[in-house]
Amino acid sequence: MTEKELKKLLSEMSLEEKAGQLEQLPFGFFEDGNTVLTGPMGEISLTREQIALTGSTLSGCGAAKLRRVQREYMENHPHHIPLLFMMDIINGCDTIFPIPLAQGAMFDPQRVKKAAQTAAREAAARGLHVTFSPMLDTVRDPRWGRVMESTGEDPYLNSENAKAMVKGYQGQDFGKTGVFARDSVAACIKHFAGYGAPLGGRDYNAVELSDRTLREDYLPAYKAAVDAGAQMVMTSFNTLDRVPSTANRRLFSDLLREEWGFEGVSITDWAAMAELMEHRVAADDLEACRLAMDAGIDIDMCTGIYQFRLPQLVKKGVIPVKKLDEAVLRVLKLKNALGLFEDPYRGIDEDAEQAILLSDEHRKQARKAAEESFVLLKNEGGLLPLDPEKSGKVAFIGPFSDSGEVSGAWSILADPAKCVTIRQAAEKKMKKFRLRFAEGSAFADAEDPIAGFDGPYIPGASGPEEELIADAVEAAKEADTVVLCIGEHRLMTGEASSRANIQIPAVQARLLRAVSAVNRNVVTVLFTGRPLDLREVSSLSKALLVVWFPGTESGNAIVNTLTGKNNPSGKLPMSFPWCVGQVPVFYASFSTGRPVTDNNRDMKFLSRYMDIPNDPLYSFGFGLSYTSFSFSEVSLSGKSIKRRGGKKLTAGVRVTNTGDRAGECVVQMYIRDEVSSVARPVRELKGFKRITLEPGVSEEVAFEISEKMLRFIGIDGKRKSEPGKFTVYIGEDSSTMNGADFALM
Ligand code: GLC
Repeated sequence: MTEKELKKLLSEMSLEEKAGQLEQLPFGFFEDGNTVLTGPMGEISLTREQIALTGSTLSGCGAAKLRRVQREYMENHPHHIPLLFMMDIINGCDTIFPIPLAQGAMFDPQRVKKAAQTAAREAAARGLHVTFSPMLDTVRDPRWGRVMESTGEDPYLNSENAKAMVKGYQGQDFGKTGVFARDSVAACIKHFAGYGAPLGGRDYNAVELSDRTLREDYLPAYKAAVDAGAQMVMTSFNTLDRVPSTANRRLFSDLLREEWGFEGVSITDWAAMAELMEHRVAADDLEACRLAMDAGIDIDMCTGIYQFRLPQLVKKGVIPVKKLDEAVLRVLKLKNALGLFEDPYRGIDEDAEQAILLSDEHRKQARKAAEESFVLLKNEGGLLPLDPEKSGKVAFIGPFSDSGEVSGAWSILADPAKCVTIRQAAEKKMKKFRLRFAEGSAFADAEDPIAGFDGPYIPGASGPEEELIADAVEAAKEADTVVLCIGEHRLMTGEASSRANIQIPAVQARLLRAVSAVNRNVVTVLFTGRPLDLREVSSLSKALLVVWFPGTESGNAIVNTLTGKNNPSGKLPMSFPWCVGQVPVFYASFSTGRPVTDNNRDMKFLSRYMDIPNDPLYSFGFGLSYTSFSFSEVSLSGKSIKRRGGKKLTAGVRVTNTGDRAGECVVQMYIRDEVSSVARPVRELKGFKRITLEPGVSEEVAFEISEKMLRFIGIDGKRKSEPGKFTVYIGEDSSTMNGADFALM
């Protein structure tokens, strides 16, 4: 339809129809028995006639099912406006990819984009139009369970991945024509804004960020996604400056629409409109409705308030009909860009659904992504990769050693039975090895607060702890090498999964101690959705491989890595703290007025803890390889850049593979502003490149440094660069001191 035709349609719609377009209900309202709920289900008192006017639904999918629901819906709709189908396709649809935090560890936006494209192809075939992804919250506090949904602590890395995901989901066509190809979906970025910094790491808690910190550290990835053409933005549950996002006009109108020029659709998070009453900024749902509409929120997710209250507030003149029409037109435009007026069944494809879901090609992509996401934190004495001769008899022990529970908490369509377990892969790929398997322990103790909830179900063990540990100890005694497969269960992370204790479950720690007491050759394969306190795990393991939640091809990717077919190259996208007392801990920290240096460690009055170190256990950007790399000194194409004139500086290094096997190296560039009008981080990631090198081979790696890269929000509140001295560092992680100075004139 043309915009003129859309406006004509709008003019013919009743007030109730318009309000309906701004309401979203769970799919169960359109298909009895569908109970996929991703939030607390409040009372929604809508009549059948009102439900028949609802503009969108979430968490339903399946070609035949959505075709039927769409047909029935449109037959009943007064103007036959198609329904919009949305869902959380976070890290893959049916073919499950590594969780977003693992995708951050890939430092490979091209592969992130490919994963999003594949997810979109599967989702579109299943009839979906919008995915509630990417989640672009900067995360620096592992107590918050939702860090698994982000690509990490760094605004630059998150921005690169944000662009990649939006383009992957929405497709090249949309970028050029504004119309979605049939195998693409619209991206809904979330959670706007600042949700990743809740006080105490406690989900849904208040967020207190200065405007400068919000803009410098928490907004860049959202902005990158909006600039990449993201078509929807979701509100966050938190308050920012004590204003809930769903009622935050400064955020959703002044910043998002006026300052950034966003013209897409905004939507609340689950029931967030009703929660304005819980925040105690609205006395009743009428007030909540008014506040949200005034803030610039278009769609109400799952409370019924918009559909129930908007007509009367417009009739009373409390909400201008113009404001209502603007919101409805944005929703109609999105449906139009998806081609739904021409073909309400666009994308729905029963044949494609059979042909591409979990196809070999998609599985291969998921496996490669998983392999690239693994981070090798330790490999004492080259215990890895395993070798039939050198490693002798290998015992795979632990609750993850033969489990399909390897997909992230948001992998709604994951089928554990279709996920390759470590045991399945090992028995198929390690025929030359002498293998043994033992469950070892449960995922968690029955009394663990997470396992005890009546919500998500964490599978129990197959027998009593004593028997499992005895069997594991016997296996470990007989083995030359132990591969201990442990970590958080997938349902211990994600939404509403904040934890003050970020160690592995106690029952697994008991297993680790028992096994390492009889066999020191322990390789720990760690499943997790967040940085954990790994002091004990690291001290009792000779090798430590973080695999996050790898998804469908988990076992194959892990065994390929353990046996050296894949040489690990992942880098930490988020710091792993020494202990929970350190958080939030992140590499781009501040000097303070009393920094600890190499020359003052015996002084008292310094910014440090008395009982623990300042540095995390493992830093952002860190990750080992089975080979090793050397870096030349940094060379610069000049000693300065002029603030005006646009000329760039090139910083280069020569990287050499000094080991005996091919490997991939993520070369990282950080820049430090030596003196500035406000305190700036000790360094910031400004570039990274992933290169592959054969043994003994060298490659020149160059990065361009532009004046624009050096801009920040100065003391006058304006984003600009300031003349002065800078240092550029290029190395393998955020602690590299391989640097060179330059000046901005
Ligand atoms: C949830 C989550 C959000 C998700 C939405 C719809 O509460 O906060 O990330 O997209 O509801 O499922």
